Amino acid sequence: MTKKYNIAIVGATGAVGQMMIQVLLERKFPINELYLLASKKSDGKKINILNKEFTVKALDGFDFSGIDIALFSAGSNISEKYAKEATNKNSIVIDNTSFFRYEEDIPLIVPEINASQITHYKKTGIIANPNCSTIQMLVAIKPIHDLCKVIRINVCTYQAVSGTGNNAIKELNDQVNAYVNNNEILWDVYPKQIAFNVIPQIDNFMENGYTKEEMKMVWETKKILDEKIEVNPTTVRVPVFYGHSEAIHLELEKNITSNEAKNILSAKDSGVILIDEHIDGGYPCAANECENSNDVYVGRVREDISCKNGLNMWVVSNNIRKGAAFNSVQIAEHLIKDYI
Ligand code: A2P
Repeated sequence: MTKKYNIAIVGATGAVGQMMIQVLLERKFPINELYLLASKKSDGKKINILNKEFTVKALDGFDFSGIDIALFSAGSNISEKYAKEATNKNSIVIDNTSFFRYEEDIPLIVPEINASQITHYKKTGIIANPNCSTIQMLVAIKPIHDLCKVIRINVCTYQAVSGTGNNAIKELNDQVNAYVNNNEILWDVYPKQIAFNVIPQIDNFMENGYTKEEMKMVWETKKILDEKIEVNPTTVRVPVFYGHSEAIHLELEKNITSNEAKNILSAKDSGVILIDEHIDGGYPCAANECENSNDVYVGRVREDISCKNGLNMWVVSNNIRKGAAFNSVQIAEHLIKDYI
């Protein structure tokens, strides 16, 4: 008989937490008991996912004994406070926040790239899930990097509001409604209006003038793919509900043609879906391709006409799925296949 596992989701009422439940169900993950945890105010709340009703419990006071895998997505402060509580009870934590990502002993995993590193969870009991923008960028450039080393990445992101959570989805919705009804547009989650606007700030500013989201792309690329790769990021919030888009400009060790790149990216095992036709709409877009997909889409592959070994591409993926919930569930699938 297939072994079944006790799973806890911390932050189960959130944008990512609810998707974690959905992806576990979609993938028919072998679950014995599923515990959905959130703040005290959600204790007893019912949530409906794929026509199944679930009851939420308060995280505070929850006993992690007997939990095989705990998926955390309730913010860094909650991971800081409760992840060790879970590992002390022998649960394995897959943490979707940035709290543990840069600790040397803690593996930071994109299964298509470095699944072999999962084994290092044994030291701390924790595996970190990378930042959403980093995951889709690295899945897309991995096949290129395998063929011809990437030296430098220039990247501009166009990131959906769902990455900030349910409050931000509501803020965009409310602002659109206010606009069409001629009401005053108010904001609270973002520092400026997000509806019909583009905001060049994601997360807090760092001392070097970059934002933390930008530095996450730098640090995580080095930790996951190759420490030699330099990254020059600008991360931008756009009024899209689901799906991050990225304009990526690679500098490679040597020249490869756009046709060579497209051949690798369209190979069966490339890990991406290539949509690249020189016709109107012959490229992936967040609202069209990403809404219900776990995949990473690539388009607009072309040689950089301004730089000798440059290659440009457009990368789109659902930030809540591949950027968060699906990647975490993939890690959990590796755990049950190879380790527990
Ligand atoms: P709750 O709905 O009870 O506030 P999002 O990323 O969409 O904003 O979701 C954040 C998630 O983190 C929600 O599930 C939220 O639960 C949860 N959360 C926030 N604060 C706490 C807390 N103190 N303890 C447990 N879960 C929390």
